[in-house]
Amino acid sequence: MRDTYAKAEKIVSALSTDDKIRLVSGRDAWTTEEVIEAGIPSILVTDGPHGVRKQVAGTDHLGLNASVPATCFPTAVTLGSSWDPELIEEVGAALGRESRAADVAVLLGPGLNIKRHPAGGRNFEYFSEDPFVSGKMAAAMVRGIQSQGVGACLKHYAANNQEFFRLSVDTVVDDRTLHELYLTGFEIAVKESNPWTVMCSYNKVNGEHADVNRSLMTDTLRDDWGFDGLVMTDWFATSDRALALCAGVDLEMPGTGGSWDAEVAKAHQSGLLTTAELDLAATRVVDLALRAQNDAGTSQVDPAAHHALARKAAAAGTVLLTNDGTLPLERTGTIAVIGAFAKKPRYQGAGSSLVNPTQLDTFIAALRESLGDAASVTYAPGYDPLTGATEEVLLDEVRAAAAKSDVVIVLAGLPASAESEGFDREHLRLPDGHTAVITAALEANERTVIALQNGSPVEMPWAERPAAIVEAYLGGQAGGSALADVILGDVAPGGRLAESFPMAASDLPADRDFARHPKQVEYREGLYVGYRFHDSAGVPARFPFGHGLSYTAFDYTGLTVRKSGDGYSVTVTVTNVGPREGSDVVQVYVRDPESAAYRPEKELKGFAKVHLGAGESQKLTIKLDRRAFAVWDVRSQEWRVEPGDIEILVGASSTDIRARRTVKIAEGQAVSPSHGPAAYVATDNEFRTMLGSEIPTPDGPVPFHRDSTIADLEHTVLGKVAAGPLLELGRKSFDTTDADPTTIGMFEADLKEAPLRKIAMSSDGALTLKRLDQLIAVLNRTSLSAWRAH
Ligand code: BGC
Repeated sequence: MRDTYAKAEKIVSALSTDDKIRLVSGRDAWTTEEVIEAGIPSILVTDGPHGVRKQVAGTDHLGLNASVPATCFPTAVTLGSSWDPELIEEVGAALGRESRAADVAVLLGPGLNIKRHPAGGRNFEYFSEDPFVSGKMAAAMVRGIQSQGVGACLKHYAANNQEFFRLSVDTVVDDRTLHELYLTGFEIAVKESNPWTVMCSYNKVNGEHADVNRSLMTDTLRDDWGFDGLVMTDWFATSDRALALCAGVDLEMPGTGGSWDAEVAKAHQSGLLTTAELDLAATRVVDLALRAQNDAGTSQVDPAAHHALARKAAAAGTVLLTNDGTLPLERTGTIAVIGAFAKKPRYQGAGSSLVNPTQLDTFIAALRESLGDAASVTYAPGYDPLTGATEEVLLDEVRAAAAKSDVVIVLAGLPASAESEGFDREHLRLPDGHTAVITAALEANERTVIALQNGSPVEMPWAERPAAIVEAYLGGQAGGSALADVILGDVAPGGRLAESFPMAASDLPADRDFARHPKQVEYREGLYVGYRFHDSAGVPARFPFGHGLSYTAFDYTGLTVRKSGDGYSVTVTVTNVGPREGSDVVQVYVRDPESAAYRPEKELKGFAKVHLGAGESQKLTIKLDRRAFAVWDVRSQEWRVEPGDIEILVGASSTDIRARRTVKIAEGQAVSPSHGPAAYVATDNEFRTMLGSEIPTPDGPVPFHRDSTIADLEHTVLGKVAAGPLLELGRKSFDTTDADPTTIGMFEADLKEAPLRKIAMSSDGALTLKRLDQLIAVLNRTSLSAWRAH
């Protein structure tokens, strides 16, 4: 047991019940409560995940108020595409240093939810569609942050894969899919990096809000995985504070002015919440504060060094999707740079992760600086950087600039208003203005390279036409210079896709039920997410999972697979057979040709990143433990390995398999038979079987309750009357004076979709939960007298 924990237990044993109840909720937006006479300090937590967002004024949590400058590292989508845990650990350590220098005890990240659908508004904040990649990257980030004596926070646990009605929607998912896809990443990160904290998500999981879900918060997280830190709520995620404490959620964040204290005290008096449970939560809060205090100290931050690291990381996550040899660019002639992003880069996403960067590189400046007088660079904006819209006069400029240049580089992608925390994308297309600019450039000059800045996949019906396509994602504050590094070949493009780019969203089984119903989302595709779907169904992605080119080429030879411990070790020699140095990601997939349980065509179970000079070789060994071969057996509630043949595939993407071996697994157990959705989207019958229960009927908008939303209120006359003042009350809790239009859009979506309890909790006491209950009774016409009584 940690020293701090033993000390915390002792401190808590001497506290009054009132103090304990006070401690298990935050003090304000970003700090915890203190009890000075008992030696319990208050600590500061801040977002996260790719930069330190320590607010200077105001107390909101949605990115509205300015924060102190901090290095804006590439967002998780970019870091994930590096497939480089060592590099991510380095970035984590830099984040840890900056946190420490700013007196931040816990940095609220990494986020590691699975990208179930490419339209997820917050996908840019997450690593991958694959749990193995997500878990490994998150673990690396946590190790880095915590190496500096600052706590990390894994978020958002669990099954929070869309923004639409994120505070109340019920994720209906079968147990096997939940374990194999949506929990495994968290499990890897917990086991491999020992995070100080975990954040529970907003949504419900199979009918129960995450905060009150004991099976997730205690049985799985602590008992099965051995998590020994603190669980905090996402901001205003509390659905029932007393039950959350019983479930194992220790700290309510932010502070809600004691909104729940009376209910918690009552639950304690009645015995519903035991003293042991309350003490446990309070002990974990004190333990966290003591841990932070123990590790507190100053930290030297070198902003220039962190900027250089951000630049390196952005290039490492940049994915070269296609290339006819035009890249790396020759340093000569005339280069037309087209697209407003070249001067006003898209480099991070809106919402709680918004960082105030210490500096901001632009592509055009970096390109000009690197080229000097060797080549001439012209520029045409093409579109409005905020809206993405174009007009004929801008397109004429594009055509003119493209026609008279030797080569054209178009920067396109998604404007900030297209993807954000708080709402999902409605489609996967580029803004029409961007498409028009790309088309105009291509028509004027075939030697056109497209460089994309966006946080999640876009449809590219024109993908065959450009000379090259570079996916730069959201590269952070040094994204512009990193892109120039890659395009000029000063740095090899290091990225490989950690997500599939579909031809069209409608190809995807998850598209049938994504962000459609405010109350419920049904994961009828089961395990068929991302490449698990594309490769099983034979529906090609535009660019497959794991894909990414280099300026050189790699050969894989001498694959051997040997029994090693309880698993296998896979050895392969990688040789750089091209003319330049570069990096590659060797990917190991497992395929079970015959199983009682349905299985996707292949699943990633190991990978390694190698950096090789021209002509160099390296022998790599990648270990597969027993779990690599296991399925979650729902009946026995354990991971089981079925005896029989298993194929081990080694490749450069999920569709570029270079070598395979079959191994015979002798020892194992029978797994319970299970069927997936035959046509990749479960029918009612199939879904019932997968769930092992009836498919829940989504709640209707009435009768109203604490979890009802403003949108629900619109369904009755009385509700409509109440909606206006409630919206106003909600608005009051945020200061939007310095907010941009995207953030305001997110905030308005959040407000409409917020449960009424959130409006009460964030109202600074203007609307207590008790008063809210009375209002609800009135709106339901069940109790006018209850209202009059007050
Ligand atoms: C987000 C979290 C974030 C928190 C605090 C929430 O809206 O979901 O990721 O850490 O706010 O800003």
